[in-house]
Amino acid sequence: MSGRLLPVRRTGRSAQAGIVGMTGRQDDEDADALLRIALAAASEAGRLLASWRGDERPEVVETKSSPTDVVTEMDRRSEALITSRIRAHRPGDAVLGEEGGQTAGDPAGSEGDGAKPGRVRWIVDPLDGTVNYLYGLFDWAVSIAAEVDGTVVAGVVEVPRHGETFTAVAGQGSWLHRGEARVALHCTSGVRLGQALVGTGFGYDSGRRRVQGEVMAALLPYVRDIRRGGSAAVDLCSVAAGRLDAFFERGLNYWDFAAGGLIAREAGAAVGGLDGKTESTSMAVAAGPGLYQQLDTFLTKLNPERDAQRSQERDG
Ligand code: IPD
Ligand code: CA
Ligand code: CA
Repeated sequence: MSGRLLPVRRTGRSAQAGIVGMTGRQDDEDADALLRIALAAASEAGRLLASWRGDERPEVVETKSSPTDVVTEMDRRSEALITSRIRAHRPGDAVLGEEGGQTAGDPAGSEGDGAKPGRVRWIVDPLDGTVNYLYGLFDWAVSIAAEVDGTVVAGVVEVPRHGETFTAVAGQGSWLHRGEARVALHCTSGVRLGQALVGTGFGYDSGRRRVQGEVMAALLPYVRDIRRGGSAAVDLCSVAAGRLDAFFERGLNYWDFAAGGLIAREAGAAVGGLDGKTESTSMAVAAGPGLYQQLDTFLTKLNPERDAQRSQERDG
């Protein structure tokens, strides 16, 4: 069965209105309400990022794990905007942002709206695909997820240059919004590894990349082809939309996959790590159910997480 995009269905109401209130739950941690906040913040941040159309590249203000792991002023401005919008609605919630790290909510600030501090945490990648953004390529995104008691319940990936917004609420499926239209997402199913279009990405550390290159060289002869899109959040949404059959990456950060992982899972994909583990900063894999097993078996044999052992040996 093909899991490609369903025909675009006109809803006659705003895409945002179309995803609100489907559970009917009204508690302080209502996933629909959290999604609404994430959606508004991601959309505003996406507009801010897209407003830069200069002839020159945005300035690199810092490098992180390696000279190629860059932060631009726009990454920071986007995260500041998102955090302020979240705090305006829910001052008591914690926020984990790529640029600002983890900040606790203000316990006093939550009294006004009755929100209970401590249960909700927001996971924010203000600009996923910074290198694409720097080079004027289109695959970059704003990614926001909301956790309740440590579980992601709502996620948004906003992809401004494609005019697309991907959303999911746990247990309610995932959706692609394009203007006023929205379509339910379904990953592909029944695809054999040899026919699979597989997305992946590479870390910024050269030692890790060497191992990732070895894994690529071993996998490439056994799949339809490989794609390296440049934004893990977009890649996971591409699995959800059937634009990729599978995705895996070693060494992502939580903010890279928190929202996209929920979107892929809600579209029917299996999301996890290798050999029965859950997805993590060590390894994240997403694929249709049968394909996941084949990819898992193939990758496990290659031991793609072995660069950790190598650096442990190196560091003594
Ligand atoms: C990166 C992107 C890329 C992935 C890297 C991530 P950033 O995030 O998601 O596709 O391969 O591992 O670090 O740095 O652009 O936010
Ligand atoms: Ca990222
Ligand atoms: Ca980022």
